[in-house]
Amino acid sequence: MPVPELRHVPAQTPVAVVFGGPSAEHDVSIVSGTAIAEALVRAGYPVEQWCLGLDGAWWRLPDGHRRDGRPQSAYDDPTSLGAAGPERAAEALDRLAGRDRPPLVFLALHGPFGEDGTVQALCEAAGLAYTGSGVTASAIGMDKAVFKRLVRGVGLPVADWLEVRAARWAADSDGVLASLDAFARSTGDVRLMVKPSRLGSSVGMTLAHRPEERGPALEEAFRFDDVALAERYVAGARDLEVSVIGNDPDALEVYGPGEIMSGHEFYDYQAKYTAGLSQTTQTAEVTAEQRAAILDLARAAYRAVGCEGFARVDFLLGADERVLVSEVNTIPGFTPISLFPTLPAAGGYTFADVCARAVDLALGRAASRVAHRTTTSDLPR
Ligand SMILES: Nc1ncnc2c1ncn2[C@@H]1O[C@H](COP(=O)(O)OP(=O)(O)O)[C@@H](O)[C@H]1O
Ligand SMILES: [Mg+2]
Repeated sequence: MPVPELRHVPAQTPVAVVFGGPSAEHDVSIVSGTAIAEALVRAGYPVEQWCLGLDGAWWRLPDGHRRDGRPQSAYDDPTSLGAAGPERAAEALDRLAGRDRPPLVFLALHGPFGEDGTVQALCEAAGLAYTGSGVTASAIGMDKAVFKRLVRGVGLPVADWLEVRAARWAADSDGVLASLDAFARSTGDVRLMVKPSRLGSSVGMTLAHRPEERGPALEEAFRFDDVALAERYVAGARDLEVSVIGNDPDALEVYGPGEIMSGHEFYDYQAKYTAGLSQTTQTAEVTAEQRAAILDLARAAYRAVGCEGFARVDFLLGADERVLVSEVNTIPGFTPISLFPTLPAAGGYTFADVCARAVDLALGRAASRVAHRTTTSDLPR
């Protein structure tokens, strides 16, 4: 199948690539964002790059900036790179929107602020088109509890879970531990995977092997969110990932599954970000039936959440061969070796093609939004 033709002429569309940001995935985002910028430049787009500090400040890098192998720490002091700023988010976006030819915003941010609907809402308020999912899908994708309630509601398989609120834990820890005990018994495994609801990168996650580890695991999760999930531990789980591309829920492209072989007991923060610790493959060894089921589930999860543009849908394949939907990442890692932008190679896409397609889909969505804009003739005057 050939890569779909772009509907917008590349060189016409200025693109502002935004990366960094106030998240644990700040450094990954720098690699993603600079790679996207360089690919789009090569594809003929006028590109500007905005690096967001850990404090949320917006800095515009000089035109033509290239990472050139700099470590991510080189971006800690953007002035040393000749960047202009700092600006507040709304200020920077308003100024972009005020230009004669406002750029399309390519969001290469991960985690809270970048992936949870916040910056998407700021772009909406400023009237700027941006890549990827809208506000609602972004927020749902970031919230594991809401995501799981939603996808289970439409009948997709997910690992059983219990939600615990920090306030309830503070008021009645014995009661919470008793519920966790009953829940773990019902799963047939004493181990529980405890995680904060709205975070990524495996931050704040603990595999509680024994009952006495459950309390400290909850405390750890509550450092990051006031809702925690205790999930059934999917023993021997394989981590599979699918790239989904498209705006039209009836015409989604799906690629994969790829697989991550974690160098740790589970795919924790170190396993994710220590070079060489984990391995990936673009073609997971699964049966043809499993592959078909996984791709169908990826489409179904993407549709249920209402994703647009692109997303990566992750799965757990248990030792019992059961496929479970794990999560949807609305701004997946976009580094040149990340699975999300490389899985579509099976459909003929280069890394730059994936970036250009994200831009094209964003412009397509923005155009359809304009068509729905309310005018005075719509008002009951
Ligand atoms: N219920 C579970 N059973 C077994 N392994 C799990 C479970 N939940 C998560 N994991 C492991 O932990 C990793 C990170 O969990 P995930 O829910 O994807 O959080 P994050 O959003 O931080 O990536 C997964 O990739 C998987 O390896
Ligand atoms: Mg994950």
